[in-house]
Amino acid sequence: MPDRVMDVSVVQVDPEDREALRAWSVPSRTSFLQPAPTPQALEDRQHEVRGHRLTAVRDTVAGEDRVVATLRSFDSELTLPGAGPVGVDAISTATVLPTHRRRGLLSRMLTADLDRAREAGHAFAALIALEAPIYGRFGFGAATRATSLVVDNARLAFRPDAPAATGSLEFVPPGRTDELAAVHDAARRARPGGLLRDATWWEAAGRRGEGRWLGPRGHAVLHRDADGTPDGYAAYDVTDDAVGRVPNGTVHLRDLTATTPAAYRALWEFTASIDLVRVTRAADRPVDELLPHLLVDPRAVQTGPVDDFLWLRVLDVPGALAARRYLGCGTLVLRVEDPLGLAGANVRLHVAPQRCGADGWVCAEVTTTDAEPDVVLPVGELGSLLLGGTSAVALRRAGRIAATPAAAWTLETLMAAPEQPWCPTWF
Ligand SMILES: CC(C)(COP(=O)(O)OP(=O)(O)OC[C@H]1O[C@@H](n2cnc3c(N)ncnc32)[C@H](O)[C@@H]1OP(=O)(O)O)[C@@H](O)C(=O)NCCC(=O)NCCS
Repeated sequence: MPDRVMDVSVVQVDPEDREALRAWSVPSRTSFLQPAPTPQALEDRQHEVRGHRLTAVRDTVAGEDRVVATLRSFDSELTLPGAGPVGVDAISTATVLPTHRRRGLLSRMLTADLDRAREAGHAFAALIALEAPIYGRFGFGAATRATSLVVDNARLAFRPDAPAATGSLEFVPPGRTDELAAVHDAARRARPGGLLRDATWWEAAGRRGEGRWLGPRGHAVLHRDADGTPDGYAAYDVTDDAVGRVPNGTVHLRDLTATTPAAYRALWEFTASIDLVRVTRAADRPVDELLPHLLVDPRAVQTGPVDDFLWLRVLDVPGALAARRYLGCGTLVLRVEDPLGLAGANVRLHVAPQRCGADGWVCAEVTTTDAEPDVVLPVGELGSLLLGGTSAVALRRAGRIAATPAAAWTLETLMAAPEQPWCPTWF
């Protein structure tokens, strides 16, 4: 085994410096099994990472100073149950070249970034894990899940009691993303797990092309309500797989977001009724998708595997528990254990009806305490529970949290939310 202690330097890379960005991008793409970036891909990447923090680990290889590991992070916002968005440290592009793996470079970059984020006042960090076993040891827990759908367009008939589609639809030219961004912003604020897509994100999305949000055959369609206000959009690519002269096209739905059930219905109805198309495929959809409930034949929609999407790392336990609101009531002492020593705490979570808002959500009182805990849980499991997408009862049965069945059930009811957390935003 190679020596784990290496004489390397850790530096920050300016994303505006095209040559430095190229030196940073080549090894990260190698680690992700991608080819070196073309000039166009590098230009697109520069738009994507504008303003982000880019870390590079450099080592002397064959007498040259080379980047061997990368990490990227930026400030974003995450929607919690019953509450507005909170700041989150979004982490991405964690890569280590195969020649330098398993010598502690990821650990070094990641813990430095988490330390910095906690110092900056973030209660959360988040990432999307390429492989599920990597990030638990760093205190992350899977907090949102997503699935894929395959819709047989010919069988997509809406029930008579489904919300009626009364608005209008229009194609949106590439680069014009302001109304799409406004719809997404309203939607992501309304659902746990929603992540901010800032101007940088939309600017990059507007640059359609291979490997982008939408490919060269992509389209974005905006829905307006009867008053002309945008309330939903669908973004999709198409492939035309005609068999002989028999049309057999597929719509690959990249993004469908709506702020009303009527707009949601209209957009599904639209994408599933495009001429020459037989099938609609959608990725990164919520696990409690509304569509099957609207249909005469719910089996027109086949659901694919359910996988974790957003992983959450709590950096401040009292701050994180107080930042969301609750629908149930109850009191628990939680001992949160953090092997990295960043956020461990013994806290009393008290959710009482007197603190209930007009909307039914209750603010918690969170205090540190020396009292004996009702629940002992690792910080990663707290990250999994906080958005309401993971069952505390299941975690207890799996041996991942220590609690009586009654305490686990209280925790489960406190953490529950009316909708499953959903994050369809890659970063
Ligand atoms: C995943 C990756 C970043 C790990 O980097 P690394 O520098 O080898 O990681 P470290 O040496 O810091 O490993 C820290 C610990 O995590 C474990 N670990 C690292 N990668 C792992 C993986 N893919 N699966 C399971 N455990 C893993 C290590 O075994 C080590 O455990 P130990 O402390 O008990 O020995 C690197 O292998 C890589 O770039 N892979 C391809 C790209 C990728 O998957 N990136 C992640 C994007 S989300």
